[in-house]
Amino acid sequence: MDLGIDLHAHLVPGADDGSRGPVETVEMARGLAALGVRRVHVTPHQFRYGNDFPAAELSAMAGRVAELLAAARVPLEVVAGAEYCCGERFVRALESNEELCTFEHDGRPHVLVEFPLDRTVAGVRRVGHALAWRGVGAVLAHPERYAELGASLERMHAWHEAGWLFQLNLGSLVGAHGGEARARARRLCAEGRYAFAGSDIHRPWDLERLRLSHAALREMVPGGVS
Ligand SMILES: [Fe+2]
Repeated sequence: MDLGIDLHAHLVPGADDGSRGPVETVEMARGLAALGVRRVHVTPHQFRYGNDFPAAELSAMAGRVAELLAAARVPLEVVAGAEYCCGERFVRALESNEELCTFEHDGRPHVLVEFPLDRTVAGVRRVGHALAWRGVGAVLAHPERYAELGASLERMHAWHEAGWLFQLNLGSLVGAHGGEARARARRLCAEGRYAFAGSDIHRPWDLERLRLSHAALREMVPGGVS
């Protein structure tokens, strides 16, 4: 895991329940840079909260964030992304070959995917198959947060072994999502199951907890994070 890369951040002003405007975006980005983040993936919710952005619009949003940060002299590389919500709309997008907003990892495109937090998601297997068919790798956002998936360590391991990469929400390590998510996050960390870390930042005041999370992770895996 590289703490210099933040794979999951709600920095696009007005796109979702994250940043409410350019001032908040710059404040959050400045805070991330101060923590040592070099590259941030801006990942508005997609196919949730009524969001249904064309891939080109997601890229344009990231471009506008990059311009904003350059103007404010915040030294942070911005990568276009989205947090795709697993469900019928995502299945339809995949099966009808709609363009996705992907990022490169290990020489092939990947997308960030979230499940509903409290229930088994409809169509999740079809999503897995459709992504594999399209040659797109899946990164599961914050697996430690899902009540049903997380209730069984074996099930989480099965997802991981089926090829889904895991993204840790850093705040989970210090209890941002409750005690159970904290325990799961620490367990999965100790097992080395996470490929990526993410802030999942929504508001400037999330930065304080993020500072604690970075410290906690460095303490847990001395020399294991960069
Ligand atoms: Fe998120």
